Amino acid sequence: MQTYTHDVLILGSGLAGLRAALEVLRASRGDLDLAILSKGQLMRAHSVCAEGGTGAVLHPEEGDSLDLHAWDTVKGSDFLADQDVVMRFVEAAPREILHLDHWGTPWSRRQDGRLDQRAFGGHTFPRATFAADKTGFFEMQALYDTIQQYRSVARYEEWMATRMIVQDGVFAGLTAWDLKTGEFALLRAKALIIATGGCCRLYGFTTYSHAVTGDGMIMAYRAGIPLKDMEFVQFHPTGLVPSGILITEAARGEGGHLMNRDRRRFLEDYAAKMMELAPRDIISRAEMTEIEAGRGFVHPSGLGYVELDLTHLGRDRINERLPLIREVAIKFNGIDPIDGPLPVRPAAHYSMGGISADINGQTPVAGIWAAGEAACMSLHGANRLGTNSTAECLVWGAITGREAALWASRERALPDPPLSEAAEEQARLAGLLAARGPENHHQIRARLRHLMDEKVGVYRDAQGLADALGEVRELRDRMSRIHLDDRSWVYNTDLTAAVEVQNLLDLAELVIMGALERKESRGGHARRDYPDRDDERHLVHTQATYSETGPQLAYTPVAITTWKPVERKY
Ligand code: FUM
Repeated sequence: MQTYTHDVLILGSGLAGLRAALEVLRASRGDLDLAILSKGQLMRAHSVCAEGGTGAVLHPEEGDSLDLHAWDTVKGSDFLADQDVVMRFVEAAPREILHLDHWGTPWSRRQDGRLDQRAFGGHTFPRATFAADKTGFFEMQALYDTIQQYRSVARYEEWMATRMIVQDGVFAGLTAWDLKTGEFALLRAKALIIATGGCCRLYGFTTYSHAVTGDGMIMAYRAGIPLKDMEFVQFHPTGLVPSGILITEAARGEGGHLMNRDRRRFLEDYAAKMMELAPRDIISRAEMTEIEAGRGFVHPSGLGYVELDLTHLGRDRINERLPLIREVAIKFNGIDPIDGPLPVRPAAHYSMGGISADINGQTPVAGIWAAGEAACMSLHGANRLGTNSTAECLVWGAITGREAALWASRERALPDPPLSEAAEEQARLAGLLAARGPENHHQIRARLRHLMDEKVGVYRDAQGLADALGEVRELRDRMSRIHLDDRSWVYNTDLTAAVEVQNLLDLAELVIMGALERKESRGGHARRDYPDRDDERHLVHTQATYSETGPQLAYTPVAITTWKPVERKY
């Protein structure tokens, strides 16, 4: 088997991955041998779909402050965020905006040339720095372009990683295959940064790109790294019906209204002060309550929805500030938001949980860091505020890039190449390729999505979660009897999809188990049978660790350095 060796390996090429790559290059002045491995092409990572903005305090002279950003984030998290992590984040975020400015991001500006910022949910000051409604795309482009200035970057594009190998607590290698040629290889490096995004492709109605299936998370878990707070899934209030495509929260930041079928701004009943700019968990619950009470609409697809009305913003504002969502609404729904309201409902959008990592993004395995949505250093707790995710990718991309570069610059011997584990993994995939059973993994994936939408959505309860867990385990059993139609190693999307379904099923088990055990409602986790927050028993992080007999759950404390939990009102 071919073995490739580098100093630093980055798995994933979204905002966190590219920012980490750039920091490795900057910190080592291009001296380290850096490789980026990505399931798709570099600039097709899901981060290009980020729309509304990146949160940072840029205008303290107008009343914003780091403390205010931190408080909004902690309150938004339903007090499950680690407050030392939040402080580190708000302090670093403004620097990242300025870096991107220097690297060429075309930020939207005010008349006087200063960076503009707009309102976003749960933020008490307009601090979403934006480039129209294509913020992620322009941020990615600036990072990508800047990386081109360095020569020492190897690119494994359209390679799928399958197993992370750890020996004696140290990163030893990663197995992956080249989707284009079928080559299967072992990649070794002194340092690995996992930046593969979250796992909301577990759901059917989601804002995610199809490729984001939590592969990095589950590989880390199987290698012995715990996954933290997996039960906390964020539902974005404005997924376009029926596709689930994101209609940015910036539409409400610019003044859009959410209406029920009585033509009422129903948020008056749920968050009278902040209305459409309340945090996402609160608005998503309000929408589902309206829909379930018959005060929503029903789409021909069968999906219930409420309406997002932008018509009062006017043509000029929509064209200047929200051109992407206008284009999307016209192309996908035949509705021009200048003329009429858009059908929207909560869509799975973000994994608050992820790979357990410390404040530097360091996992419990020496030589492995995690950044961005794949990671959980407990910045977002039970509910993330909009704009804090792209900011997190930049902040911890930079931190982990620096840490990994420092680690890899030191003289250190690599563990022996784990050839037998790599051969085992290759044999596992070959077995999958040869599978001739009666089951169809595409149908299993469809069933999983339906199950997650129905039973592990905005509202949950013990019965639904227990049913979902039982069925996920049955689906996993059925996965052992699948067949593959395509027998080739080259561009075999049948095989890629089967590996993804295996990953998603293992992740689903962790989300559901965490949700069953958390007998309270906090942030994005709303239990009908336990409607209140329970700080006595559940002001803790869930840690799920792999074992031969199944996931083991344990609980660790939340870092509360400044703000004691209080009732959340908006
Ligand atoms: O609505 C949005 O533009 C999404 C932003 C975010 O998730 O941070």
